[in-house]
Amino acid sequence: MTTPLDQEIATYTAANPKSASLHEKATNFMPGGDTRNSIYWDPFPLYITDGTGTTLTDVDGNKRTDFVNNMTTLILGHKPAEVTQAVAEQLDHGMSFPAPSPSVVRWAELMCERVPSLDKVRFVNTGTEATLNAIRAARAFSGNQKLVKCEGAYHGNHDAIQISVVPPLDKAGDAESPESVKAFPGISETAEDDIYITPFNDIVTAEKVIREHADELAAVIVEPVNGQCGMVPGKPEFLEGLRRITDELGIILIFDEVIAFRIAYGGAQDYYGVTPDLTCFGKVVGGGMPVGAFGGREDIMSMWDPSGGGATVQHAGTFNGNPMTAAAGVATLENLTPEKYEYLDNLGESLRTKLRALFAELEVPMGVTGVASLFALQFTPTEVVDYRTFATNDKNMLNIMFIGLLNEGFLMSNRCAGNVSTVHTEDDVDAFVTAVRNVLKRAGYA
Ligand SMILES: Cc1ncc(COP(=O)(O)O)c(C=O)c1O
Repeated sequence: MTTPLDQEIATYTAANPKSASLHEKATNFMPGGDTRNSIYWDPFPLYITDGTGTTLTDVDGNKRTDFVNNMTTLILGHKPAEVTQAVAEQLDHGMSFPAPSPSVVRWAELMCERVPSLDKVRFVNTGTEATLNAIRAARAFSGNQKLVKCEGAYHGNHDAIQISVVPPLDKAGDAESPESVKAFPGISETAEDDIYITPFNDIVTAEKVIREHADELAAVIVEPVNGQCGMVPGKPEFLEGLRRITDELGIILIFDEVIAFRIAYGGAQDYYGVTPDLTCFGKVVGGGMPVGAFGGREDIMSMWDPSGGGATVQHAGTFNGNPMTAAAGVATLENLTPEKYEYLDNLGESLRTKLRALFAELEVPMGVTGVASLFALQFTPTEVVDYRTFATNDKNMLNIMFIGLLNEGFLMSNRCAGNVSTVHTEDDVDAFVTAVRNVLKRAGYA
């Protein structure tokens, strides 16, 4: 029997023959035909040749409206003139130097000006390096080793934190006292032992876990909006509670704002009015170029200062703060005015409201999570607030929706998360809602 998923995949395969054959060639040289598993999907990913504004073009010439924006990075859309011009100007002067450039100073100034908790900042090349360094900072400063993190949170691809990211439920223990579970083989055994897991948005359990292990904790790390579970906003009482408890016990609180920086002018900490000790950044702050950054309290960040005889913590990186990324970062931040955030908030809210109305009209057991410019489809009647509620999703239906939307001319992440940029419009939102309706209809829901 042909299933709705088979039908969507057949349409997809027929429309994308050049991507299919490029994929076949690519698998000869790269496992799975690419170097980034998060953008793989069966039967093969699309190979993209151009991104302009809201539109991606693939090797078959298909155009799709992009609601991924390279995993929330491209907040001004693809190829915004202000950013490409700044990068082109820098290109004229050289691509990387073995010394700092004026642009990195401006970039750091912009970050410290707009993010409440940043006394000092350091740049790296990925969000992964940002969390790696923030955790290292917390360990060096506190003299402790252990961490608390939330179940179902992704904080980058390094051993210390690739724990309980998408844990199989049969290994994850009770909801109120989750086990720490390595994300995959190859991660150090000690990483699993060095971390305590708490459910997102449950301050009662988090308080219990933190108090129980307070003497051995280096830090509590939290993503204020959980991207992995579908852009799930932290409840104010959860984030405020983490701050209250860590303040009382003298434990470093790290916000991972690699995605969540996107939700307000001064990032998630500005939005929630909660001030962490350290913050990790990525994506948006590099304007589309490879980036990461971490920063925070003066006394912690001063461990990196090599002047006068040596830093407590070493920090090298051939491309850290390189002038190409700095130019793109400065141009992006300078263009991200409070008015742009208001536009993004309104468009995101409109999209979520229209989708909710559609699901109510069709009586389909779906929901929408998200905040500001971020959103995700949830194929479950359960309200998604953490990893366990996220795990109630009908994964087959999410897959049908994802491939179906590709067939309708829209790209979301392969878990059906998305985000709007400043160049998306209400017309894009309406067309997207119609596309979701069409996919549901083909799947027998209307
Ligand atoms: C919350 C969060 N932290 C860290 C990272 C790692 O960033 P990168 O992919 O740049 O290494 C990501 C990436 O998606 C992320 O979403």
